[in-house]
Amino acid sequence: MRVLVLHGPNMNLLGEREPEVYGRATLEEIDARIGERGRHLGAEVRTFQSNHEGALIDRLHAERRWADGVLFNPGALTHYAWSLRDAVAAVARPCIEVHLSDVSKREPWRQLSVLADVRAALCAGRGLDSYLEALELLLEIAPGPERDAEGTMALLAERLAHPDERDVVARELAQILRRSGRFRWVGLYDVGPKDVEVRGWAGPGPPAHPRFSRTQGLTAGAVTSGRPVIVQDVRGDARHLPTLEGTRAEAIFPIAGPSGVLGTVDVESANAQAFTTERVRWLERCVEALREFWVSPAPR
Ligand code: DQA
Repeated sequence: MRVLVLHGPNMNLLGEREPEVYGRATLEEIDARIGERGRHLGAEVRTFQSNHEGALIDRLHAERRWADGVLFNPGALTHYAWSLRDAVAAVARPCIEVHLSDVSKREPWRQLSVLADVRAALCAGRGLDSYLEALELLLEIAPGPERDAEGTMALLAERLAHPDERDVVARELAQILRRSGRFRWVGLYDVGPKDVEVRGWAGPGPPAHPRFSRTQGLTAGAVTSGRPVIVQDVRGDARHLPTLEGTRAEAIFPIAGPSGVLGTVDVESANAQAFTTERVRWLERCVEALREFWVSPAPR
């Protein structure tokens, strides 16, 4: 997935520019954080800033075949530069409008956005996090090539190689798996002596049961047998404990440790019969790469 990030006028002065409104992060710091999050999520990011409307349009045109999606903070141009709206419409790539400040709560002239009818979403009011949220959202919604198992395994291994809080790593691993395989929802769970608890998930909403007994749901079958449980239509399966409304097919892959199952990977689809033999093989290889999240590799 390739992402173009465009920053408009006055963004080059971030850090010193009205820090009480825009924060203290400089543009270099913001770009570095977006790049780093992109790497973790398997996205290639290019960034560009200009104080000129035409230069932003030129860059959008120049990158239109390269980029799968765009994050765009047009600065004050947001509120009157209609040629930016036309440029976004012309390149036909999903575009998320980003603002550091919450423009909806500021002066009336900032209430209008020329991108309103062409943007896929708006992320504003969260400072630097507006960009990171927008990046994650874009990766979820932008069409991109379905990744092969090797590519996905490499992304998972790369994320596992960067230590971070366990919940953060779990969420990003779930995002990689979800996006690469185009699944509706993916969750990574820890399996304890009594309960199963979600560590990280990716999808349209949180799981209905972030913690449940290990004797419940399809998970119970996977935990007891140590083997994957794959249900092509959950409507016909009484064991199913709904995670999210709208799921039709669900697969649970257990992660076996030396003395029992340590975790599970829950993968859900909105389509019945979603788990073809090929997709299950793909998932089995990815789940093998995920093992390291629960079981550290043996020292060499
Ligand atoms: C901004 C909001 C705009 O209204 C303003 O002109 C900017 C920055 C933001 O990121 O909050 O330059 O786009």
